Parts: sequence; C-alpha cells; structure tokens
Amino acid sequence: MVARGRGAIVNIGSGASIVVPSHPLYAIYAATKVYVDQLSRSLYVEYKSYGIDVQCQVPLYVSTRMASEVAFVEKPSLFVPSAEKYADAAVRFVGRGARCTPYWAHSVQWFVASLLPDALLDAWRLSIGITRMKLTRR
Ligand SMILES: NC(=O)c1ccc[n+]([C@@H]2O[C@H](COP(=O)([O-])OP(=O)(O)OC[C@H]3O[C@@H](n4cnc5c(N)ncnc54)[C@H](OP(=O)(O)O)[C@@H]3O)[C@@H](O)[C@H]2O)c1
Repeated sequence: MVARGRGAIVNIGSGASIVVPSHPLYAIYAATKVYVDQLSRSLYVEYKSYGIDVQCQVPLYVSTRMASEVAFVEKPSLFVPSAEKYADAAVRFVGRGARCTPYWAHSVQWFVASLLPDALLDAWRLSIGITRMKLTRR
C-alpha cells in the first residue's frame, strides 16, 4: 500500500467499548475493542500522508451468529440490521475518517446514549450482563 500510495484498512470495533462507558461481565471483549480503536486511530495518523486510510468502524448490534449466541439478538429489526444491510452501509464509509458508525440507526442510538448519565448506562449494562449470564448457564 505504501509503494502504491493508496489503500484502505477497515478494523471492526464495537459500541461495547465506545458508545457505553462500561461493559460489565464482558470486560475482556470490551477491552479488546478499545485496543482495536486506539490501534486504528494511531495507524490512521501514521499512514494518512501515504494515502492509506485506516478506519475503525463501530457497529452496535448486527444480526449475526455472534449476536445470537452472545447477546441473544435473533432477528434483524430497525436498530439491528442484517449483516448484508450493515455491510452495504459499511463499504460506503470506507475512507471517511478514522472512526465511524456506518449504519444510521446505530448513530441514532449512539447519540441517545451520549445524552444519558454514565451511572445509568453502567447500571443498564450490568443488568444486561447478569441476565445474559443466567441465560448462558441454563
Ligand atoms: N454482531 C454484532 O452485534 C456486533 C456488534 C459490534 C461488533 N461486532 C464485531 O463484528 C465482528 C464480526 O462479528 P459478527 O457479528 O459478524 O460475528 P459472526 O457472524 O459470528 O462472524 C465471526 C467471524 O469470525 C470468524 N472467527 C471466529 N473465531 C475465529 C478465530 N479464532 N479465528 C479466525 N476466525 C474466527 C468466524 O469464522 P467461522 O465462520 O469460520 O467460524 C466468522 O467468520 C467481530 O469483530 C465483532 O466483535 C459485532
């Protein structure tokens, strides 16, 4: 990419590390996504002048196997796009900044979350984590 003077790298982060202030009981997952975000941002700055765009995309829920197994999210809905719908939005955002949330309804959720106090989001995520743990152990 450096030799060609152009290229694009897309890394997949998660709302788990950026949209909410904590992700209790999924701490390691959220921590790896913080790593992806900072790695992407630093590489974005390092390689911008070489014509290479490094981007961290921040999806919220997308209806995939992982979402059904880990988050018990089964069907696509307005706020949970299918993988195809997400991918459609994702490719249109390649090269548009170091970090983005390509799917419009995820941006709406992120905006709403930004208006809420951290303590409320912490309590909400903890209750979701506990519920999921119980479901997983059944
Ligand atoms: N779905 C969501 O709600 C959501 C939200 C935020 C972020 N994300 C992120 O989106 C990315 C894609 O997840 P997804 O939702 O598309 O899940 P997915 O449909 O379950 O796909 C996961 C993919 O990762 C591959 N994979 C899993 N473990 C692997 C390993 N040890 N080595 C190599 N490949 C491995 C799987 O390969 P096989 O098919 O061969 O098993 C599969 O292709 C992940 O980074 C996830 O954190 C997802």
